[in-house]
Amino acid sequence: MSERPTERVPIAILISGRGSNMVSLVTAAQEGRLSADVRVVLSNRPDAPGLARASDLGIPTAVLDHRAFATREAFDAALADELERRGVRFVALAGFLRVLTPVFLRRFAGRVLNIHPALLPSFPGVHAQRQALEYGARVTGCTVHFVDEGVDTGPIVAQAAVRVRDDDTEETLAARILEQEHRLYPLALQAVLTGRARVVGRRVVGVEGPGDPPGPDAG
Ligand code: GRF
Repeated sequence: MSERPTERVPIAILISGRGSNMVSLVTAAQEGRLSADVRVVLSNRPDAPGLARASDLGIPTAVLDHRAFATREAFDAALADELERRGVRFVALAGFLRVLTPVFLRRFAGRVLNIHPALLPSFPGVHAQRQALEYGARVTGCTVHFVDEGVDTGPIVAQAAVRVRDDDTEETLAARILEQEHRLYPLALQAVLTGRARVVGRRVVGVEGPGDPPGPDAG
């Protein structure tokens, strides 16, 4: 994408649960820190608590219940249709617990970001904080990455490190990582939406600068 500092890109935020990263993105957009027009917060689960939080922030919401579709591909086609109907140009996954198939990703190629609560490529998949703790990692953190057809494998836009403490539980570690997630995701998404971040092979360049995440002492 070319540099478009003032244009607001129509985006969708996809959630499945509490939606705290969604709130941090919506707040950043409403405060002018993110050049995004959040067209919809969409959940695949009708009972996702984040839906009410989005409504409270004045954002339109939608539910597309995956259980109503016979296959992943049918769900993904309906999802892409719904987002295109709303004029969405970019998609931010924020605790969206569905793996997207090529049926969706080909229609939004290079236009989907995700946040993962570990320093990829370590600890992909579910329970990333528990995996880091059980492995005995001394530093973990979070990663904002482009979504490709693998699980947590796309090019990395930004990472923030968090130290693991001796007395950490999964909950205390997850809470400190989450603080970094809320800070990192709007910065990383802004770099992508303005065209500052560019994908070169597996690397994303152009993200260095004042928005850089702090070192592991931050945790
Ligand atoms: C976050 O830890 C995120 O990294 C992971 O799922 C969790 C979602 O939390 N992908 P929330 O719904 O944003 O509060």
